[in-house]
Amino acid sequence: MIKIQGLKKSFLSQEQSRSVQALRGISFEVKDDEFYTLLGPSGCGKTTALRCIAGFENPEEGEIWIDDRLVYSSYKKINVPVTQRDLGIVFQSYAIWPHMNVFQNVAFPLAYGQHRVSRQKIRERVQQALKLTQLDGLDNRPAPYLSGGQQQRVALARALVHEPRVLLLDEPLSNLDANLREDMRLEVRELSKRLKMTTLYVTHDQLEALTMSDRVSVMKDGQIIQEGTALEIYKMPTSRFVAKFIGIANFIPGRITAVMENGQAEVKIASGTLHCAKPENVSVGDEVLVMIRPEDITVCLPETRPDGNVLEGNIEKVVFTGEMLDCRVKVSDSILRLHVHPNKILELGKNILLHLIPQRCRIIPR
Ligand SMILES: Nc1ncnc2c1ncn2[C@@H]1O[C@H](COP(=O)(O)OP(=O)(O)O)[C@@H](O)[C@H]1O
Ligand SMILES: [Mg+2]
Repeated sequence: MIKIQGLKKSFLSQEQSRSVQALRGISFEVKDDEFYTLLGPSGCGKTTALRCIAGFENPEEGEIWIDDRLVYSSYKKINVPVTQRDLGIVFQSYAIWPHMNVFQNVAFPLAYGQHRVSRQKIRERVQQALKLTQLDGLDNRPAPYLSGGQQQRVALARALVHEPRVLLLDEPLSNLDANLREDMRLEVRELSKRLKMTTLYVTHDQLEALTMSDRVSVMKDGQIIQEGTALEIYKMPTSRFVAKFIGIANFIPGRITAVMENGQAEVKIASGTLHCAKPENVSVGDEVLVMIRPEDITVCLPETRPDGNVLEGNIEKVVFTGEMLDCRVKVSDSILRLHVHPNKILELGKNILLHLIPQRCRIIPR
């Protein structure tokens, strides 16, 4: 388990000699064996959070627990050194030694750190870590002769070799090419699950966050603004920022005109009325945005037109991407983006009817 409470950290920026608040009091808990991701744009404080947990940075305020042990507390003046926090860490830059071969790199924490063990044990543990990361047979390969993916695996093997309970990963796949990244996403998640590791993963890549994580926290400007499972974050974003950061989203401005018993609310928009899923704490008269994903808008025919949530629009743009048609349709003064099956025929300039699935219309603050 990793638990963080009220963590604050600021840096003095050199150019303006003023303080930058990298973390503004963040709290979260990664449960035992959970794969948890901090997701956010560059500069939002992800690396700082990870470095505080590892013990490379001293926060000004807050507490950090690793496996029920309080390793940092500003209040109680506790600060357990990096070497005694029992973590496996993989950095974005890999940080593997260029003058060493694969075996030596992976053996490093066992040969020098506080996890030092006998030669025989080193051999066994390294072989096991190489096997786990599919590097068996490459023991003697010098580090400069490894591909990007292999270097990444060496960094992972080295993080795992002393069998830590907790794994911290800072954008470990961002230097790999697209195909390899896709394979490694699955591989890293599987490894973490197989070894029953509590894993904190940091990335700015929404696809990595969605495909790998049990739970995700979306960060912005040193704060966590939404936490949930990948599905919850994608389907039920609570802000425009989260909706836009994770996937493609349409936003339609409107005003709430009714709040119903069935968990829906009615929103008046420029081109009609929409029934939407109702979040807590909204009332009649609120100026809001209706958010809907492109895959939740369907094209309907006049004869099979559903009762509600149908808007008429004009086809402005159609892009064939292989698995779908990515379309933009002008509805009143907004442009809606929708994804349509590639077998459908959509002609530019034609009028069409769009059905916006009510349960998929989310109300978020303007
Ligand atoms: N050592 C440092 N000195 C000064 N500013 C820093 C330092 N480390 C991070 N920052 C600043 O803190 C903020 C958060 O940085 P970081 O945690 O690296 O973000 P992320 O990993 O999400 O891209 C940024 O504004 C960054 O410029
Ligand atoms: Mg970073």
